[in-house]
Amino acid sequence: MKTVIVFYTRDGSSRVVADVLKESMPGAETIELIETRSRAGLFGFLRSGFEASRGKSSELSGTPWTEVSEYDELYLVSPVWASKPAPALRTFLSHAALSGKTVHTVTVQADAGFNGAEHTHAVFQDLAKAAGGKPGRSLNIHGAKIGKLADRVHIEEQVRRL
Ligand SMILES: Cc1cc2nc3c(=O)[nH]c(=O)nc-3n(C[C@H](O)[C@H](O)[C@H](O)COP(=O)(O)O)c2cc1C
Repeated sequence: MKTVIVFYTRDGSSRVVADVLKESMPGAETIELIETRSRAGLFGFLRSGFEASRGKSSELSGTPWTEVSEYDELYLVSPVWASKPAPALRTFLSHAALSGKTVHTVTVQADAGFNGAEHTHAVFQDLAKAAGGKPGRSLNIHGAKIGKLADRVHIEEQVRRL
């Protein structure tokens, strides 16, 4: 079973989650989704919340969806924005052909109580299903406050319990 972890991050915490997941799964690879436009600053923050809540996708650098054909299992890691997955994951899923692959969704959010996480995963899993993926696990990770980077030990503790 070949596994790939596909992630997007604005403030860095989802990259830590992807790295820690990779360490816990021998042989797994990671692919980072990189946007062509910066989301830095107040305007970037406001645009991010607006785009996520409206279900917008975004332009990505390269064609990362072509890099997952050899894998049987995908872990998709996204920050939660306005209770939705980030636009970069929508772009990836709108292009990816995931037929026969199991797709696990991993959300990273500021709210340690995981308020609204069920809804976020339902949206996320629907997008994966539309790409042909078989529904896998829905995993919640507590990241950090907006603009902050989660502590690696905090992420490791949560991944160990998954
Ligand atoms: C535009 C925006 C909207 C957010 N909306 C939510 C939210 O609805 N619920 C929540 O728990 N956290 C929310 N957050 C916080 C992020 O999910 C949290 O900071 C996460 O750790 C960021 O991951 P990253 O460092 O990989 O970008 C939001 C952050 C941003 C930038």
